[in-house]
Amino acid sequence: MSIDTEKTLRVESLNKTFFIDGKPLEVLKDINLELKEGEVVSIVGASGCGKSTLLKIIVGLGSATEGRVLLKNKKVEKPSIECGMVFQEPRLYPWLTVEKNILMGISRKISGDEKKKALRDHINLVGLAGFEKALPNQLSGGMQQRVSIARALVNRPSVLLLDEPFGSLDALTRIDMQKEILRIWETERITIILVTHDIDEAIYLGDRVVVMSRRPGVIKRTLPVDLPRPRDRNSEYFANIRREIFREFFAEQQRTENMEYYL
Ligand SMILES: Nc1ncnc2c1ncn2[C@@H]1O[C@H](COP(=O)(O)OP(=O)(O)O)[C@@H](O)[C@H]1O
Ligand SMILES: [Mg+2]
Repeated sequence: MSIDTEKTLRVESLNKTFFIDGKPLEVLKDINLELKEGEVVSIVGASGCGKSTLLKIIVGLGSATEGRVLLKNKKVEKPSIECGMVFQEPRLYPWLTVEKNILMGISRKISGDEKKKALRDHINLVGLAGFEKALPNQLSGGMQQRVSIARALVNRPSVLLLDEPFGSLDALTRIDMQKEILRIWETERITIILVTHDIDEAIYLGDRVVVMSRRPGVIKRTLPVDLPRPRDRNSEYFANIRREIFREFFAEQQRTENMEYYL
């Protein structure tokens, strides 16, 4: 086993092939990714390129066909409290209150007092104080997503995976939530992988932006974002990175269109 304490998370030569009706569908090919402690990496890529599949393998909800994921030098084989995940939809229990939903995610190993403290701390962290007893349908979409972020963080994982977490929110709420993630990251200094189809969001939050291409999903390019936070979305540097990423997308789209034309 390779020892590298500085790297919280390593994805090594990962391949994933699904079989649909006996036919192979190669979804991820030779994915390599390393994250230092406290680093934020954004992943962008067309729908269907395997982003969710990749996150599910990292969190231990899916298995790789080849390759492995190491979290703090240990091979990931099943979900653990070391890694929390937030999905596009909040996935809350509609009949449980905010606090009970968050408690559903908490490790059974900790004592009652510690649970109460962790719960209070995380409700405060995501700005939901006063809403502990509310039911999910009494909350806005953004607030529901805050509950699922609190649930993902309540065990103090070293890694947080976000799978298009704000995809169903309106543009202004999205921007608020991006600022929230930044604030949480500044408080917790947690390692984050953010999957998003919003290029601005990827640049606003990531230390690097990884661009994936599809069929099979490979890492096409990685762009560093060398900008201090909070980032100015209107700066020239920001605009240059945005342009570069769009260029990658358009190049790919054109190839796909040409390919489909010839098929
Ligand atoms: N459990 C599964 N069985 C078979 N195919 C799957 C499964 N999950 C995902 N896929 C396929 O893998 C590809 C990538 O899916 P996904 O990871 O959800 O992409 P993304 O999140 O980038 O939109 C898609 O073609 C999808 O149909
Ligand atoms: Mg997805």
